[in-house]
Amino acid sequence: MRTQVAIIGAGPAGLLLSHLLAVGGVDSVVIETRTREYVESRIRAGILEHSTVELLESVGLGARLRREGDEHRGIYLQWPAERHHIDFHELVGRGVWVYGQTEVQKDLGQARDAAGQQVVYDVRDTTVHDPAEPYVTFTADGVATRLDADVVVGCDGSFGPTRSAVPGQTWQRTYGYSWLGVLAAVAPSTDELIYAWHPDGFALNSMRSPTVTRLYLQVPAETDIAEWSDERIWDALATRLGHGQDGWKLTRGPIMEKSVLPMRSFVQAPMRHGRVFLAGDAAHIVPPTGAKGLNLAVADVALLAPALVALLREKDPRLADEYSDRALRRVWRCTHFSWWMTTMLHASDDPFDAQLQLSQLRWVASSTAGATGLAENYAGLPIGF
Ligand code: FAD
Ligand code: PHB
Repeated sequence: MRTQVAIIGAGPAGLLLSHLLAVGGVDSVVIETRTREYVESRIRAGILEHSTVELLESVGLGARLRREGDEHRGIYLQWPAERHHIDFHELVGRGVWVYGQTEVQKDLGQARDAAGQQVVYDVRDTTVHDPAEPYVTFTADGVATRLDADVVVGCDGSFGPTRSAVPGQTWQRTYGYSWLGVLAAVAPSTDELIYAWHPDGFALNSMRSPTVTRLYLQVPAETDIAEWSDERIWDALATRLGHGQDGWKLTRGPIMEKSVLPMRSFVQAPMRHGRVFLAGDAAHIVPPTGAKGLNLAVADVALLAPALVALLREKDPRLADEYSDRALRRVWRCTHFSWWMTTMLHASDDPFDAQLQLSQLRWVASSTAGATGLAENYAGLPIGF
């Protein structure tokens, strides 16, 4: 097989890249280890930044998002006995959208179907060869296949093989805790997300639709999900989110899915080696507290697609040469913001840290300067920041 751009991974980065390349007149083939059903039902992120929504709309992917998504003006920041609304619209003139990654994935899948995009699911043994004249080998339906391409892009997430084909420097931070995430068949108890600091540990009240709530609890790293019955989960959420405080109630309901998510920060640079590029989680991971992972993947491919169109159609390498530096500028901004939100909100065993966190939260919630910093980063900086 031969194509202009071989894309490894059909997550949001891979499928959106193939879509943007097609808009620019460049062909691609996408290969993916999982089945399409698996990829479209994986419960992950839920918040889209303003610039992510603008980009999706600009390439015809915004109709269902506008219809079924929910625009939020801001978030609530909370600690025991206090809840404060941070109004992003008032502070920075833009908000965010609640629209699940599963839905983004389905919209992308349908758009790629309509355009006749070749996506090969359920492949095995993906290997990237020769960064100067790249090709990818894999097995599909038991048949060994070679895919030659002008460029290979690794959109294969944090466990994919492309990262190791791109030499460079890495930075990482592990946190001593994880998130226990649950999806519950119950109407959200809040109109906008609640980020709650609590001495027992952080809790987040998010949502997916008027009938589905998404909630998270800070738990120790390596927690066994079997230790958390549904009742124990709801009790902990009620305590940490402040059930009964000022008349607010957390409504319980059937838990449809629960899992433990590790938290880490990771960056690899550069995001390119010869004609092999990295985008999304393949190059960087953030802890989910700032809701940045999916948005960063979108921002990477928004920069990479025009760079590859210029390289392959006009033989102009300038944007491709700048890609890694431009993408990493935003990656480090979001890495800092995600680390900041994480360390401000998660309980540690250190009582000094707890006082610093509370002081920081009071400042963010009561000072326009403090709140504006959070709002600007959370609602998202422009793609080309
Ligand atoms: P991915 O979505 O990981 O896609 C990579 C794709 O590559 C996958 O489909 C994978 O199957 C495929 N692949 C891997 N190896 C190969 C191979 N050898 N050959 C071919 N294909 C391969 N972010 C938030 O903002 N909020 C959240 O609540 C949140 N929760 C998360 C929960 C989990 C369990 C995980 C893992 C991530 C979560 N994230 C969250 C992060 C967010 O979902 C990611 O940042 C986003 O999915 C990145 O998109 P991507 O396309 O770069 O990578
Ligand atoms: C989610 O709804 O899954 C979600 C929302 C906000 C976050 C992380 C996850 O910061």
